[in-house]
Amino acid sequence: MKIRSDGTLYTIGAVAAIGIIASSYLAVQGMSKNSEIESLLQERNALLKEMNNKSAELTTASTTILELRTEFDDLKADLEDLADDYRDEKDKNDEFEDQIRGLAGTLGDLDKLAKTDKELLAKYSKVYFLNENYIPTKLKKIDDKYIQEGKNDQYFHASAIDHLEDMFKAAARDDIDLKVVSAYRSFDEQTSLKGQYTQVYGTGANTFSADQGYSEHQLGTTIDITVESVSGAYESFAQTEAYAWLQKNAYKYGFILSYPEGNTFYVFEPWHWRFVGTELARDLDRKNDSFYDLDQRELDEYLLNFFD
Ligand code: DAL
Ligand code: ZN
Repeated sequence: MKIRSDGTLYTIGAVAAIGIIASSYLAVQGMSKNSEIESLLQERNALLKEMNNKSAELTTASTTILELRTEFDDLKADLEDLADDYRDEKDKNDEFEDQIRGLAGTLGDLDKLAKTDKELLAKYSKVYFLNENYIPTKLKKIDDKYIQEGKNDQYFHASAIDHLEDMFKAAARDDIDLKVVSAYRSFDEQTSLKGQYTQVYGTGANTFSADQGYSEHQLGTTIDITVESVSGAYESFAQTEAYAWLQKNAYKYGFILSYPEGNTFYVFEPWHWRFVGTELARDLDRKNDSFYDLDQRELDEYLLNFFD
């Protein structure tokens, strides 16, 4: 090549050099962009891969959560069933306990009832009959201070004598000096007494004296009461303050008047008082009923608490 003096050659040369440099530069530049894109692509692929992995992990985790949730719901349902079973079982136990308690109470009542002589509430006025062998389970002597002067020792049912003494003490606190004319009478004593009355009054004795076996006195829970001014089992006792006191208060101690005015068995006997238990005596007083007006079945319901 020939170098021109006007410098054109230099210019061409310079342009060519620049062209070479520029294209080299561009080639280098292009190469560098490519590798950048390449690395970005790789990065993108790695990220996509990671994203896929995470997505798979997430799907697995969701499945696990769903499974756990089902398991939890099943467990919850099982627990509710168990709680229901427990409640049912507890209800059954409570019911059973109540039944046992009820049975124990019933057994106690039956035992108490079995030990209570059912003759004690039977109607012994020409209705029922006590034979010569009947004697109360246990008798106790009544304190002498309560016995009418000149009378023999008198006995009363041991399980009810406290009620008798309580009544006499309460009367004494109100200045009423009650005295016992007659209390327990055996079958034989009644036979003898009725015999004596019959000798004197003939069949008239039947209006105020029971035949043997039909007297409430044989039960040991009946007393004839008087005061000194009357001194015996007489109708005039009805005019005393003592009788008025008894009419007002005797029921509180379980005593009732067996033969009030107008009764169908005997004459009016204001002196003759029978212990029938405070429960029955109170009910009779409240309803203004007489012992002999009640059915035997009704009376028997009071046996359970007779001595209470
Ligand atoms: N005075 C009564 C009726 C009796 O003898 O038992
Ligand atoms: Zn009597």
